[in-house]
Amino acid sequence: MPTTKSAKNHEISLYTKSSDSGLKGLFIVIEGIDGSGKTTQTKLLAEKLKRQNLNTLVTAEPSDSPVGKHIKDILNGNLNVPPQMLALLFAADRIEHVYFTIKPALEQGNIVVSDRYYYSSIAYQGGMGVDQNYIRCINSFVVKPDLAFLISVDPLSARKRLKDQRKQLQLTEDEELQLKAFKIYEELVKQGDLIEIDGNSSIEEISNSIWELVTGKLIK
Ligand SMILES: Nc1ncnc2c1ncn2[C@@H]1O[C@H](COP(=O)(O)OP(=O)(O)OP(=O)(O)O)[C@@H](O)[C@H]1O
Ligand SMILES: [Mg+2]
Repeated sequence: MPTTKSAKNHEISLYTKSSDSGLKGLFIVIEGIDGSGKTTQTKLLAEKLKRQNLNTLVTAEPSDSPVGKHIKDILNGNLNVPPQMLALLFAADRIEHVYFTIKPALEQGNIVVSDRYYYSSIAYQGGMGVDQNYIRCINSFVVKPDLAFLISVDPLSARKRLKDQRKQLQLTEDEELQLKAFKIYEELVKQGDLIEIDGNSSIEEISNSIWELVTGKLIK
């Protein structure tokens, strides 16, 4: 496969193609509904990048900041807040995530791989009925990713994966909300915001598809 061959030939350089974000590093985002395989693919991508001796930072949203912890409490059903407020909390957590984690890592030339980003706010808080323009507005500070993937899996299959994995489902894992989020994600693909990857394939096939697109950005 060309990507593997390139990797073996050491054609991948620490100096990436000019980053669309205007920063030195490369910013990659993995999106999808709950159970689609984001964490699995984030981990595999990071392993492949590290194998190429590329400085890689793996991160996720909600973050580990106090606001991020507050969000996790809400998602676990311990607190009830209006969706407009949840959208603001996610945006606040994201400001901290961008300013203290993502931006500094990109400025130092790292490859940053984030498990979820502002597309999740559009899909989920949008799915909860919050105006998408409002969500975009409160997230207008974000650093735009160089590559943003949607691992596309239908909500029923994704739900089955989660049920196999654990018993307790989160607030956002409500069946109706998953379907709404899924539809909004598909719209984001049509609008060119996200690159769709068929999430029904095997873990390895998905990882290879992502890798091919990532190496396309890496090779000089
Ligand atoms: N392509 C795949 N085919 C079959 N099972 C998969 C696939 N990808 C991931 N899984 C399995 O599905 C489950 C959910 O995967 P994972 O935790 O990566 O999803 P996620 O999108 O991060 O979920 P969450 O939104 O809950 O964090 C795991 O048990 C994982 O092993
Ligand atoms: Mg996950």
